Amino acid sequence: MVCMSLFKWTNAHSVYLPEIDAEHRAIYRLGDELHKALLAGANPAALQSIVVNLLESAEQHFRHEERLMRAIHYTGFAWHKHQHDAARKRVKALAKRIDAGDSVAAGELLKFLSDWLRDHLGVADRMMGARLRNYLRFNTSLAS
Ligand SMILES: [Fe+2]
Ligand SMILES: [Fe+2]
Repeated sequence: MVCMSLFKWTNAHSVYLPEIDAEHRAIYRLGDELHKALLAGANPAALQSIVVNLLESAEQHFRHEERLMRAIHYTGFAWHKHQHDAARKRVKALAKRIDAGDSVAAGELLKFLSDWLRDHLGVADRMMGARLRNYLRFNTSLAS
């Protein structure tokens, strides 16, 4: 079973774009909330409601990043979106199992998300952040 803090935000996670960082923090907070609920033995309905919020936040966030990348014709868009799509698929499958009352699926979701966020923020989002910041040095606005 998972232990300690899987979703501790640190500045090392920052991609130096305030809106994106705020969305990442919100996803980390929901991950932590789900982790704590699991450890506390929360009932399935309580877990499901956190999972719904988590999925919704992640989806809104992915769409936001995808809009920004499209707006600047980011060359790494397809590669980045492919990572989002893989996570969407995996998380939806786990959420479906949680809805069906599978008691280990919530733990699997936490482990998957914690690993995925670390890898994705550390590489793909960081590269996207660097490109967007560079764009904003020469352009005053960005359709977001
Ligand atoms: Fe991303
Ligand atoms: Fe992100």
